[in-house]
Amino acid sequence: MRKSMLEQIQNRRSCRKFTSQPVGDDIKEQFIKAILWSPTSKNNRPWEFVFIENKQTLEQLSKCKPHGAAFLSGAPLAIVILGDPTKSDVWIEDCSIAAILVQMVAEDLGLGSTWIQIRRREHDENLSAGDYVKDIIKAPECLEVASIIAIGYKEREREPYADNALLHNRIHFEEFKK
Ligand SMILES: Cc1cc2nc3c(=O)[nH]c(=O)nc-3n(C[C@H](O)[C@H](O)[C@H](O)COP(=O)(O)O)c2cc1C
Repeated sequence: MRKSMLEQIQNRRSCRKFTSQPVGDDIKEQFIKAILWSPTSKNNRPWEFVFIENKQTLEQLSKCKPHGAAFLSGAPLAIVILGDPTKSDVWIEDCSIAAILVQMVAEDLGLGSTWIQIRRREHDENLSAGDYVKDIIKAPECLEVASIIAIGYKEREREPYADNALLHNRIHFEEFKK
């Protein structure tokens, strides 16, 4: 039976180990629609997306920062998400919405994904992770790299979130109680 949206949100866990199965064109087409239909402030659509499947490029991108990106070398697909700060003062929000939507569409289609943070991360003491990535993908100077979403077929399923682990104490009704 088809899972509800809420069940899919519960089931989505970051996946960092993928099978070697490539992501088909039909699936990439659905990712493209999801990101291009994602809402943006004032409908500014200040984002750009770069789909990467070339193994050598994925290997280079996996070295974009010292921690948290190495697994990208084993991913069949990466989507680099960039924003143009001159087009919107809330490009970060717009890029983040596109990122989570593509992660949820991946989950819906039976694939796994992980968000790799690039904005405000360093490649080394002399170079930001964003400038390192921009150089590899030949991005225009005016753009900022927000994140990279690694996507592929899951090597193994992870446990969904348990209901009893929900942080209900973070939910407030009307006001914070003393
Ligand atoms: C804004 C953001 C940045 C993240 N950056 C990274 C990252 O650079 N590398 C990584 O492996 N995971 C990254 N993650 C994935 C988180 O580590 C993961 O979502 C979190 O541990 C919860 O696990 P789950 O995705 O399985 O629910 C990021 C997630 C978010 C939302």
